[in-house]
Amino acid sequence: MKVTFLLNGETVEVETPATQTLLDWLRNTRGLTGTKEGCNEGDCGACSVIVTDATTKRALNACILFMPQLHGKSVRTVEGIAGPNGEMHPVQEAMIAHHGSQCGFCTPGFIAAMAAGHANGRTDHDDVLAGNLCRCTGYAPIIRAAMAAEIAPSPDWMNERAAPEAPAPFAPESLDALAAWYAANPDATVIAGATDVGLWVTKQLRDLDAVVFLNRCRDLQQIVASEETITFGAGVTMVDVHQTLKIYHPSYAKMVRRYGSEQVRGAATIGGNIANGSPIGDNPPALIALGATLHLRHGEVTRTIPLQDFFIAYGKQDRAKGELVTGVTIPKSAPALRVYKLSKRFDQDISAVCGAFNVTVEDEKVQSAVIAFGGMAGTPARAKAVEAALVGRPWTRETVQDAMPAFAADYNPMSDMRASAAYRLEAAQNMLLRYFAEISGQATSVLEVQP
Ligand SMILES: Cc1cc2nc3c(=O)[nH]c(=O)nc-3n(C[C@H](O)[C@H](O)[C@H](O)COP(=O)(O)OP(=O)(O)OC[C@H]3O[C@@H](n4cnc5c(N)ncnc54)[C@H](O)[C@@H]3O)c2cc1C
Ligand code: FES
Ligand code: FES
Repeated sequence: MKVTFLLNGETVEVETPATQTLLDWLRNTRGLTGTKEGCNEGDCGACSVIVTDATTKRALNACILFMPQLHGKSVRTVEGIAGPNGEMHPVQEAMIAHHGSQCGFCTPGFIAAMAAGHANGRTDHDDVLAGNLCRCTGYAPIIRAAMAAEIAPSPDWMNERAAPEAPAPFAPESLDALAAWYAANPDATVIAGATDVGLWVTKQLRDLDAVVFLNRCRDLQQIVASEETITFGAGVTMVDVHQTLKIYHPSYAKMVRRYGSEQVRGAATIGGNIANGSPIGDNPPALIALGATLHLRHGEVTRTIPLQDFFIAYGKQDRAKGELVTGVTIPKSAPALRVYKLSKRFDQDISAVCGAFNVTVEDEKVQSAVIAFGGMAGTPARAKAVEAALVGRPWTRETVQDAMPAFAADYNPMSDMRASAAYRLEAAQNMLLRYFAEISGQATSVLEVQP
């Protein structure tokens, strides 16, 4: 595939295999070894680079970015973050002044993530840097450096835009073209953000035959609000989903802030998180609790189904070969929605259990209850026995405690490295209690000890 993009300000044209990662190309072909390889699976941030497209500048993990995803964009590696005459970027100066680097292995990745945050005027440094691991310096000096650089203006050389647009056959720009191609090539692999597919290549060493890239299809990147609903196109990244959720569904947004890291959310799409059918994907429980509908398209045929019916069994979804997920629609308002993610590490960790609750109460009685969980079964699934134990009863702690044993009728979770079955069941039950406490106005945030 022929890919054109800007690399540290210069246009490059590369003939590349479809699944060559940017990290491998930078290090092995270009000799740009400042960008480091740590985990090679999106977890450590050592490979962070800055990617600019027509609308945004983001730090992304080069180890799970395929070269064709860069077509028409601009990439800045750590070698290009200092100015053309060697002038340091403000975050580089601040890292030196605040002793933010010891062995230095993580430092290029931190610099890339900090410089992207700096260019976007971000001051929530804990969030911006949650995807960067440092083993020796400790985070306090690094956060101090990021704070110190806040007031410095962004240097001119960081203000570049993306490379000139050029059509690419491997990345259709319209949904019509994409759907027609996929229907005609149903065995191809669709690649959206590649935060799952990237690992098939880097960790499972899989060869993918035909592939198609979604990231240039603008039709799939729309967020459309009507009076009562919001529809996210399947290609909307989790960074953009997060921005919208902050306005309409703050509890769901708080969960998304802990979904992967800034680098993962900048690439991962909501459509990929649904289409992969994972039982531990974080969006599906929240979306099901919101009564979301899913939009699919096969060639010219479109259909819409309740999202909860999409997940049939472990590894089996209601999606034909060659059929695309095109979007998901949720209500704009659901004041009773709360979403709780439980993982061993607070940031950048896959859920052991993720629960979403949407209980409506009228005249002190439960009118309706939709409760959905990830991590409790082979698919994201509703807790129908618990819901039945709540509906029609007074909304009291006693009702909630009476309903808690019903989780055992709904779910038979498994034990794995993230949690035992017994822990998962108990955690799910206690989440319901936490929901009741939170809706009743008690303080439940695990962050409330922070200043
Ligand atoms: C470090 C790291 C941390 C992560 N943390 C989390 C987390 O906290 N929570 C979480 O839920 N997930 C997490 N993930 C998993 C991953 O980020 C998500 O599942 C992500 O949303 C997948 O989206 P994507 O666009 O990257 O999908 P891709 O990897 O591009 O694709 C995933 C699958 O969906 C298919 N697909 C994609 N889009 C479509 C479409 N429109 N139509 C049909 N099929 C499609 C692909 O063919 C593939 O089978 C993490 C991943 C990494 C690497
Ligand atoms: S090498 Fe660890 S995130 Fe890329
Ligand atoms: S300075 Fe050594 S890992 Fe961060």
